[in-house]
Amino acid sequence: MPHSKRVLVVGSGGREHAIAWKLAADGAEVLIAPGNAGTATVGENLPIAVDDIRSLLDVAIKRKVDLTVVGPEVPLVAGIVDAFQAKKLRIFGPTADAARLEGSKAFCKKVLHRGDVPTAAYREFRSGEKAREYLEAREETPLVVKADGLAAGKGVFVCSTRDEALAAVEALADGGQSILIEERLDGIEVSVLAITDGRTIVTLPPLQDHKAAYDGDQGPNTGGMGAYCPTPFVDAAMLAEIEEQILVPTIHAMKRGRTPFQGVLYAGLMLTPQGPKVLEYNVRFGDPECQPLMALLKSSLLDLLDAAVDGRLEEVEPPEWKREAAVAVVMAAEGYPGSYPSGHPIRGLHEAAEVPGVQVFHAGTKRVDGQVETAGGRVLAVTATAPTLPQAKLQAYTGVRAIRWIGGWCRKDIADKGIRRERELAARDEEVESR
Ligand code: AMP
Ligand code: GLY
Repeated sequence: MPHSKRVLVVGSGGREHAIAWKLAADGAEVLIAPGNAGTATVGENLPIAVDDIRSLLDVAIKRKVDLTVVGPEVPLVAGIVDAFQAKKLRIFGPTADAARLEGSKAFCKKVLHRGDVPTAAYREFRSGEKAREYLEAREETPLVVKADGLAAGKGVFVCSTRDEALAAVEALADGGQSILIEERLDGIEVSVLAITDGRTIVTLPPLQDHKAAYDGDQGPNTGGMGAYCPTPFVDAAMLAEIEEQILVPTIHAMKRGRTPFQGVLYAGLMLTPQGPKVLEYNVRFGDPECQPLMALLKSSLLDLLDAAVDGRLEEVEPPEWKREAAVAVVMAAEGYPGSYPSGHPIRGLHEAAEVPGVQVFHAGTKRVDGQVETAGGRVLAVTATAPTLPQAKLQAYTGVRAIRWIGGWCRKDIADKGIRRERELAARDEEVESR
């Protein structure tokens, strides 16, 4: 019998629990650094921080790791892939140069321009003063003001008026980074992710994230309060268009710019009246988008990532997906996305896991004296698969209701936009048939 592959997963969120869970199901022996209480049930947690590249490298050598999979963007932008490759270690993810696609919004815009990929028109300013002058000189329109670098969701201001845009420039001016001012796009936002070896892409089913904290997309921006897959806002024809006009030209533009891209290319898209346009690229799986994707993936993730790392995606069969829908509901600590307490015992995890189709992926959790406690803002992603989207939503929230801790909360409307859209499409079809 061949020895099972040993995989190191870097990260500690719901995304990494989902990746580790799937890799373990694919037969891999999984190490997670640093992991959480959930990852400890599918592999071995190692107490190493995601940005401690030196120690991650040491452990990968010492433990004879066959493949490393990086969850978050911070170590990618910091060069973890370059460090591993220099030691001939196999690692899934882009180099630091390629990770600038997420790490620098100005770099991203240049790549999009090179690839002739649809995106919002923009201007880059090296100083707050120049940005201010520009705003004062032009007529008032809805704009978006962004800091160039990684800002964990805090560097983007979507503005309706000139005064709002000026205030955003003021807030960013002391950051020492370039400021981008771009046209505000209106429409439906969706996420399309692809796995690529730098030449071939494998597009994953389209999703919709819920970034606002509260129901009805109200309140502050968060890392994501829930996601569902597949989203009816992107049909097969539109997915093919996104692949041909957005993903493939981006991969080619990265190659032409001598920053070939291997890893997950995650497009944040706005579906505008003129067609899909890129809002941003991420260079990793989304969190919580990864959780529904892993729940739906039937074929081996391990084989897919191995092929991407070895540059032979062209040779592998396309992945197989369950013909179902998946919904992930994030349960958060009181106060998130602001400050929040930790250390509250979580009850009902076993009951939730017994709901048909439900997987409870952990994010900010920790095991203390045999008891799982909260240890972060986003605590769990309760993920369900079922034959239809409304059923998947129902199962996910049945799981949610079994779980409780002091102050724990979630959005109640995850997947509702998709469910409404499906109803509209069905009504339209009926109307056509009855004519
Ligand atoms: P980014 O980090 O660039 O994706 O921005 C975060 C969020 O800001 C996106 O998910 C959108 O909701 C919003 N956003 C960014 N750019 C634009 C734009 N040009 N028009 C409208 N909304 C935007
Ligand atoms: N859910 C959005 C992200 O992972 O960036």
